[in-house]
Amino acid sequence: MNESLKQPVLLVEGLSKAVSRVGDSVGDNTGDENALHILDDIGLSIQRGESLAIVGPSGAGKSTLLGLLAGLDVPSAGKVILDGEDMFSLSEDDRAALRGEKIGFVFQSFQLLPSFTALENVMLPLELQERAEPGRDARRAAEQLLGQVGLTARMHHYPSQLSGGEQQRVAIARAFVTQPALLFADEPTGNLDARTSQQVIDFMFALNHERDTTLVLVTHDHQLAARCERVLTLQDGRVQTLQ
Ligand SMILES: Nc1ncnc2c1ncn2[C@@H]1O[C@H](COP(=O)(O)OP(=O)(O)OP(=O)(O)O)[C@@H](O)[C@H]1O
Ligand SMILES: [Mg+2]
Repeated sequence: MNESLKQPVLLVEGLSKAVSRVGDSVGDNTGDENALHILDDIGLSIQRGESLAIVGPSGAGKSTLLGLLAGLDVPSAGKVILDGEDMFSLSEDDRAALRGEKIGFVFQSFQLLPSFTALENVMLPLELQERAEPGRDARRAAEQLLGQVGLTARMHHYPSQLSGGEQQRVAIARAFVTQPALLFADEPTGNLDARTSQQVIDFMFALNHERDTTLVLVTHDHQLAARCERVLTLQDGRVQTLQ
C-alpha cells in the first residue's frame, strides 16, 4: 500500500486546553493555579473511514475536544494534523478554508441561520464552495439530502418554525452536503425520538460506508456509541479509555 494511504486522517498529539477561572483562554502554564484545565494531554489517531464515539459525563470536555479537532477553537498546547496539515500552524483563513473543504460539523445547539430557510441553510456551504467549483447544483444536492432526513415537506420553513428534532436533521443535512471527508457531530441524536434517531444513525453510517466518511460523534446514546468502531471515554478532560 502507498504510504500516504496509511497516514491517519486525523492525528492528535498532546492536546490541552486551559482557561483562566474567568473564562479567558490561557497558555499551557500547568503551574498557574488560576488555570482551569478543561482538556489535558489528549492523544489520538484516526484512520480514514473509521467511526469514533466520544463519551463521558457532562462537563468532561467532549464538546471542547470536538471543537478543537475540527479547528473551531484553538488549544493551549498540542497539535491536530488533519489529512497531513498541521491545523494550528495555519492562519485562521487557511484553517477555515481547510474546514470548508474537508469537515462537516453538527453543533450541539444546531447553529442554523435564523433568516434562512431549511433549504437555504443546507445550500449555503455548497454555495460558498461553488465560488471555487462552479457548476455544482447546490439546490438539487440540498433537496436530496433534506429528503433523506425526512424533511421534504419542511424545506421552506425557517428554523423558528421547526421542532428541535427537525432543526437537528437540517443541521445534519448541512454537515453532509459538501461530502466532507470527516463528519464531527455533537449529540446528533440528542433531540430525536427513537425512530427518527435510528433513521439518522442509519443515514450517517450509510455515508460512512459508501463514501468512506470518517465519523467522530459525541454521544450519550449507547446505541449510537455501540455502532462506532471505537469508543473514547473522557473523564475530567483526560482520556480514560480508548477501545
Ligand atoms: N470558555 C470556557 N471557559 C471556561 N470554562 C469552560 C469554557 N468552555 C468550557 N468550559 C468548561 O469546560 C468543561 C467541559 O465543557 P464541555 O462543554 O466540553 O463539556 P461536555 O463534556 O461537552 O458536557 P455536556 O455533556 O454537558 O455537553 C465544563 O466544565 C465547562 O464549564
Ligand atoms: Mg457538550
